[in-house]
Amino acid sequence: METIRQQLITDLSGAKTPQDVENARVKYLGRKGLITLAAKETDFSKLTAEEKKSFGSRLNELKNFAAEQLAAAAESAKQFGAAVGGTRKLDLTVPGLSRRLGALHPITTTLVELHQIFQGMGFMVLQGPDIETEYYNFESLNIPNDHPARDMQDTFWLTNGMVMKTHTSANQVRALERFGAPIRAIFPGRCFRYEAMDASHENTFYQCEGLVVDKNISVANLIAVMKTLLGEVFHREVKVRLRPGFFPFVEPGFELDLNCLICGGTGCPTCKESGWIELIPCGLIHPRVLEYGKIDPNEYSGFAFGLGLTRLAMMKYGVRDIRLFNSGDVRFYEQFVAVM
Ligand code: PHE
Repeated sequence: METIRQQLITDLSGAKTPQDVENARVKYLGRKGLITLAAKETDFSKLTAEEKKSFGSRLNELKNFAAEQLAAAAESAKQFGAAVGGTRKLDLTVPGLSRRLGALHPITTTLVELHQIFQGMGFMVLQGPDIETEYYNFESLNIPNDHPARDMQDTFWLTNGMVMKTHTSANQVRALERFGAPIRAIFPGRCFRYEAMDASHENTFYQCEGLVVDKNISVANLIAVMKTLLGEVFHREVKVRLRPGFFPFVEPGFELDLNCLICGGTGCPTCKESGWIELIPCGLIHPRVLEYGKIDPNEYSGFAFGLGLTRLAMMKYGVRDIRLFNSGDVRFYEQFVAVM
């Protein structure tokens, strides 16, 4: 019976037209079908009452299974016929006819992938609040009240004086206070900025902060981790460039740019026609930030980076417009098959 069951599955997986399905029905459930014969040709007089019962119930089960499978196959053969038959030509861009299983949001898939890559390098994954105090979002990052760097991040202020966190760096000192040194952690999270929206700017987007503090940490460690990260994410060699960048909480600070994977570097709206995408601002942690985190900068050093996670997903999946991620447009989400 098990052999028959397997054979039926194989036959039906190759059945395309209603005729194929009908042939299979005759082969298994017809008057001389395999399942029908299995019942007829068994000499029940030789079986004990116990055996009769078990054989009978297994046979019934197989019959029901076959009937169900045949009905399902007949239905999809009919749909397939409707799609490719008639006067319409076969359009290979039409989505498949299989049951809609849904898919993970591309940001979620990217997040899970980052978790795996960084956990493989010994990083913890932490999460901080979305609504932050001014202290953690700015002050503790060496951005005092009157510092012009606050203007770089158009902030949503709440009426109680708190802010919607403008960057995941807001969690840096929280992590240091909580876990001390040495530490290796990433903290992905949503960030909010009062931005004019266009193809590459959203008011709500994801970053993934990374933080490493230990003895003798240098820029070489930073570059090695960034290279491992990008190699794993894109499964190929990508071109990057490092240029100086200013952030009050790192010294020295860098911008790590990725050669635009949408246009291949020739220039497009996503990379603002420059051929490069600012992907990972990073640098060595400013001694003052370590001090805010109660860590002795004479003993420890570290690096931090603020990966643009939404941008990374854009590069990875070739999404040209950042606004699609939060659009709620099913036609966009449906294109992502969950491969994990
Ligand atoms: N938090 C910075 C931003 O959002 C990025 C950054 C993170 C820079 C870590 C350096 C180190 O612009």
